[in-house]
Amino acid sequence: MKHKDALLRAQASVDRAASAVMENNRYRLDYHVMSPAFWINDPNGFVYYKGQYHLFYQHHPYSVEWGPMHWGHVVSDDLVNWRHLPIALAPSEPYDCGGIYSGSAVAEGDTLYLFYTGITDQGGQVQCVARSQDGIRFEKYADNPIVQPPNEETHDFRDPKVWRKDQTWYMVIGSKADGKGNVQLYKADEPLSWTYVGKMAESDGALGEMWECPDLAHVGDQDLLFLSPMNIRGINNLNIIIQGKMDYTAGSFTLGPWRDMDYGHDFYASQSMENDQGRRVMIAWMDMWCAPMPSQKEGWAGAMTLPRDVLISENGSVLTPPVPELEKLRGEHIAEQQLVISPDQPNGLNGLQGDALEIKIIYDLKKSSATQFGIAVRCSVDHSQATLVSFDVPSSTILVDRSRSGEPVGEDRPCKVDIQEGKLILHLFVDRSSLEVFVNAGEQVITNRIYPDPASLYVELFSSEGTAYIEQIDAWQLNAIW
Ligand code: FRU
Repeated sequence: MKHKDALLRAQASVDRAASAVMENNRYRLDYHVMSPAFWINDPNGFVYYKGQYHLFYQHHPYSVEWGPMHWGHVVSDDLVNWRHLPIALAPSEPYDCGGIYSGSAVAEGDTLYLFYTGITDQGGQVQCVARSQDGIRFEKYADNPIVQPPNEETHDFRDPKVWRKDQTWYMVIGSKADGKGNVQLYKADEPLSWTYVGKMAESDGALGEMWECPDLAHVGDQDLLFLSPMNIRGINNLNIIIQGKMDYTAGSFTLGPWRDMDYGHDFYASQSMENDQGRRVMIAWMDMWCAPMPSQKEGWAGAMTLPRDVLISENGSVLTPPVPELEKLRGEHIAEQQLVISPDQPNGLNGLQGDALEIKIIYDLKKSSATQFGIAVRCSVDHSQATLVSFDVPSSTILVDRSRSGEPVGEDRPCKVDIQEGKLILHLFVDRSSLEVFVNAGEQVITNRIYPDPASLYVELFSSEGTAYIEQIDAWQLNAIW
């Protein structure tokens, strides 16, 4: 089938399914990017082009399960309000008829380039390009593929991320060899003809078997490598960040300290972009391979996280706070100061209710005596259902406990937190079937999907074995973008 016909057929399938999704929408999100219907996973082609943010995503437009991949497409002026555009890429050629896998975008003058992995008719993985002059209709390049695997043994070879430095274009591709993940580097003088440079970085054995979705970013004076390794630390899929050193002359990245990008269950395949002001923004898939996805019953699966700035703190750590533009979503506001929460007096914030909320709490640990305290959201009236965000003082860890959140979900893990000057800031974004918790200034983030009953809307501040002192709490109802 011709590319144009494949796109029309895919779009018609999604359009047909979209109205049923809108009617049956217990878990539909209010202010996150989703497809109108059916399956999505990784963010792709996140780019600033002609004054707008374009974001594409892995999309199966025929079912709520993963299947032959297409690229769905949304656009935004402000990273908050998004609008759906027609599906941008569909499998159609011998070099990509098995699927259009993840990739990235670069704008050059009026041309928008999409780089993606084509799954060939033989099941191989090759890198391809499509171009557009209007950011809506994309033509596949006649001489695709533009990059073939460097040798015959390389089968896993995907997720090209392209950027330009000075006059040279660079492309990193995720791969593996001998059971260890690696990143392959290519370079080019112009975006259609690429030269192999070599293996840019490789797992030391502890960093996973296959490196998906590599992304190299320069922020401040740091070189950051974002990766989504498979089979790392006993976890199937985990998104990590490595602070290292890029040597463009040698074509190699020296690994430095690394950590989880996000400590929740539902954060993967992150992709960052730089806008025209040199600002680095990152977004990820807000779901996880093999996780239960109750929204499939409603005709859709998968969403994007909130966009986050990527910043370097004064002490050199990487911060990923929510983009400030999200303040535009704020509606009705309540605030309180100097609240003391005790075990026998949990605080319901005057009956505050909601499934689309932003809540920011500043705790003063010097004035607190509790061994554990926190906030519960999406609580039922009888409190049998609740999602707990609790801070354990002795271990200095936060746990988002979803064991009573509603429909069953995957496992939670604790997140170690650094307390400075006795302050802990929890900044929560609740959206119908998701909860993102930003800790302090974005030092850690915990992103999860939750599937509570629609009537579980209460919020409660709690403490145990002593009191918790809240210096300031602000809560806003958030408006929907869809
Ligand atoms: C990561 C990933 C990518 C691949 C895509 C397929 O989640 O496995 O490596 O390109 O998803 O949908």
